[in-house]
Amino acid sequence: MIAPSLLSADFARLAEETARIADADWVHVDVMDAHFVPNLTLGEPVVKAIQAVSPVPLDCHLMITDPERWAPAYAELGARNVTVHAEACTGDPRDLARDLKAAGALAGLALKPGTPLAQYLDVLPAFDTLLVMSVEPGFGGQSFMPEVLDKVREARRLVDTGHLQLLVEIDGGINADTIEVAAEAGVDMFVAGSAVYGAADPSAAIAALRAQAARSFPTA
Ligand code: DX5
Ligand code: ZN
Repeated sequence: MIAPSLLSADFARLAEETARIADADWVHVDVMDAHFVPNLTLGEPVVKAIQAVSPVPLDCHLMITDPERWAPAYAELGARNVTVHAEACTGDPRDLARDLKAAGALAGLALKPGTPLAQYLDVLPAFDTLLVMSVEPGFGGQSFMPEVLDKVREARRLVDTGHLQLLVEIDGGINADTIEVAAEAGVDMFVAGSAVYGAADPSAAIAALRAQAARSFPTA
């Protein structure tokens, strides 16, 4: 499955930009607060406006401090999936997962490249999605970090052996050159910003990435 990232879209035309990727599985919305990451993007009022017009379910990636305070609002406005960073949680991430699900969303846990999966194995059963960052969060257009694929393989193994029920998502540097190795490692959902919105035909880029991933996924 493919989730184009709006970070690489034209922010003055967000409605049209979601319409251009109507055949994607989710649309990925990067919320950055200039605290958890150095960059600043958009927040709840703008995400609410996107939710009202998007033909594709919203995948909100919250790169913010104090997710306990801010994340539930994104579930309440109708996002399909709300992902918080493990490194930003001050309380037990399982409590936040429960709040997100009670508000009707899937709950996602994101790990920065240097954050080990082992540290969060006890909380992951509370989550529906695991977002493995394959760049340092904050900016689009960075180079893919293949070393994070060990985390993907480990998560895939835990899912395939019935120890976890998770959608494995990857974010950062995914394009025609990197998607196959990520799919081989067992990714279910691929976030792609510049590779989709930087293409002349975003819809064709989605189809091409999806076909490449399907060819390389272990059980495909
Ligand atoms: C980076 C964001 C990504 C970004 C990916 O912090 O979380 O979602 O949009 O952009 P690309 O696909 O260009 O690396
Ligand atoms: Zn993201």
